[in-house]
Amino acid sequence: MDILKYFDITHKKHLVLNPMSQVKLDGLFSLFKLKPGSKVLDIACGKGEPLIRLAELYNISGIGVDISPYFIKDCEKKKNERVPGSDIKLLEMDGAKYAPKINELFDLTMCIGASFVYNGFIETIKALKKMTKPNGLIIIGEPYWLKEPDDEYLKMSEFKKEVFNSHFKNIDVGEKEGLNCIYTLVSNHDDWDYYETLQWWSVNDYITTNPDDPDNSELLSKTKKAKIEYLLYGRNTIGWAIYVFKR
Ligand SMILES: C[S@@+](CC[C@H](N)C(=O)[O-])C[C@H]1O[C@@H](n2cnc3c(N)ncnc32)[C@H](O)[C@@H]1O
Repeated sequence: MDILKYFDITHKKHLVLNPMSQVKLDGLFSLFKLKPGSKVLDIACGKGEPLIRLAELYNISGIGVDISPYFIKDCEKKKNERVPGSDIKLLEMDGAKYAPKINELFDLTMCIGASFVYNGFIETIKALKKMTKPNGLIIIGEPYWLKEPDDEYLKMSEFKKEVFNSHFKNIDVGEKEGLNCIYTLVSNHDDWDYYETLQWWSVNDYITTNPDDPDNSELLSKTKKAKIEYLLYGRNTIGWAIYVFKR
């Protein structure tokens, strides 16, 4: 099935498409103290919750980029409902192809839960650094290994061990790129459980209301695989943090 349709269905009930609680995220946003008109870029903005929240709090000028037509539609709806007059542009495109106008730099850039867009964490840091003003903020949401992953888990999930770092290494990589990590926001089991298990619920609702969708059997088998991987291994093996770096 189309992967973007799959993500739309599995994340139907989510506002934030990553394993961080909305309350903790709001706490982080309140620390930013951005000036009105500050320029913010969100690569792989999902349903736009971070961008719209920042527009509500600080009247920022923002650009959100996401490849999913489903999520960009959600963003547009959210913008019209919550910050209709705001200077927020939403672009449906591959984030890796997004290039700012010549000499345009942002006060804050983010890529939360999507470093695959740039083929990994370090490349994400490099890409965002180029688009961020000196002293600006770079926010990256990234998994990390809580412990050495079992071979069985790597086999089952088809993850390569190198795909993630330790928490320390995520910070170290950014600092070796010349950034200063000034804050981290880390998810706990509650945050992860909310993110993962709400997907089971959304899939259940979808199949109930769309019993004739030919994609249902694939949807069910993918969801079952993800459920088993999370319960047997992921829950105790992968952590999640949002890293705040200063350029
Ligand atoms: C885990 S979600 C995170 C979304 C959002 N940053 C958040 O935290 O709510 C990953 C997002 O990456 C988007 N995505 C996947 N590939 C992309 C690409 N090549 N360019 C832009 N967005 C992409 C997906 O559509 C999805 O919205």
